[in-house]
Amino acid sequence: MESLFVTGGSGFVGRNFFNYLDFTSYHEVFSLSRNKNVPLLQKPAPHNLCEIAADLANPDGYRSFLKGCRTVIHLAAATGKAKPTEYHRVNAEGTEILLGECEKAGVKNFLFISSIAVKFPQKKYYHYALAKEQAEAKVRHSRLHYTILRPTIIIGKGSAALAGLVRLACLPKPVVFGTGKTMVQPIFVGDLALAISEILSGDGFSGETLELGGRESLSIEDFMKRIREFLKGHSLAALHWPLAPTIPLLGVLEKFLSPILPLSAGQLYSFQCDGLAGPNHLSSRLSPHFLSVKQMLEESLCP
Ligand SMILES: NC(=O)c1ccc[n+]([C@@H]2O[C@H](COP(=O)([O-])OP(=O)(O)OC[C@H]3O[C@@H](n4cnc5c(N)ncnc54)[C@H](OP(=O)(O)O)[C@@H]3O)[C@@H](O)[C@H]2O)c1
Repeated sequence: MESLFVTGGSGFVGRNFFNYLDFTSYHEVFSLSRNKNVPLLQKPAPHNLCEIAADLANPDGYRSFLKGCRTVIHLAAATGKAKPTEYHRVNAEGTEILLGECEKAGVKNFLFISSIAVKFPQKKYYHYALAKEQAEAKVRHSRLHYTILRPTIIIGKGSAALAGLVRLACLPKPVVFGTGKTMVQPIFVGDLALAISEILSGDGFSGETLELGGRESLSIEDFMKRIREFLKGHSLAALHWPLAPTIPLLGVLEKFLSPILPLSAGQLYSFQCDGLAGPNHLSSRLSPHFLSVKQMLEESLCP
């Protein structure tokens, strides 16, 4: 029986994936993150789940556990409002170090969870997306069998992206950056977990890059309206804040003031660039069965 190694298992996607995973199919399941004190499962932890506390960039802390693992799912990333250097250190360099260790340990398959933001045409100040783009290139140049999965914005209980949109949508006057016509295709975190399981159980790892989104596409302004209607019972015309000058301004300010700014320049790119998944065999098979926007808001925002 093979073993599985998951980085970022304590994160939003990782915890949801573990609640979905059939642990009986594996000899051991390793979960790597720096902090061991986050509960990984809503149910009692199975005996074959082993938590490892280490930084991606310090392989001495996890190298020995990779031996005997056939597959690695790489979810760990600096997300949210990290410093540009941290995005680069964790998302690009950390991925490169992990890939090198996987090759040395004889790992066969590598599933890299990237982001739809990699295909945004503009990302000058989006250090997260730039580092993910570099990481994808490292995965493609490795000797491992790989699949790169680029999810769109991920929704669920505890979604940081959804929390940001809720804050803007529920202001006394909702704020939308730019025209609001940019398209989004939210995917429910449980549906993403299902897709990851499908990739693991199929004949995948043939060097594909697969984009994956939810069942519905809508403009970001419509999505925020739906969020407000869901939480407040009514919508309200939004204030449109100009995007073009705000992104470079934030990009400069956040070098010094990042902790006190409400948003990062990178996060604003979702208001500027369409976050839609292109067609592929995985999404055509799975996306029609995914949750609707209404269903995912119910799952995510109901107490
Ligand atoms: N959420 C979205 O909307 C979205 C959309 C598209 C793609 N993605 C991608 O999906 C993946 C999972 O996202 P998420 O929302 O679950 O992120 P998350 O909640 O921020 O979780 C990140 C995970 O990575 C771990 N981690 C961070 N830095 C690390 C380091 N230096 N060494 C080892 N572990 C580290 C964190 O644990 P510690 O902090 O304890 O180390 C945590 O387990 C990421 O690769 C993200 O880029 C997310």
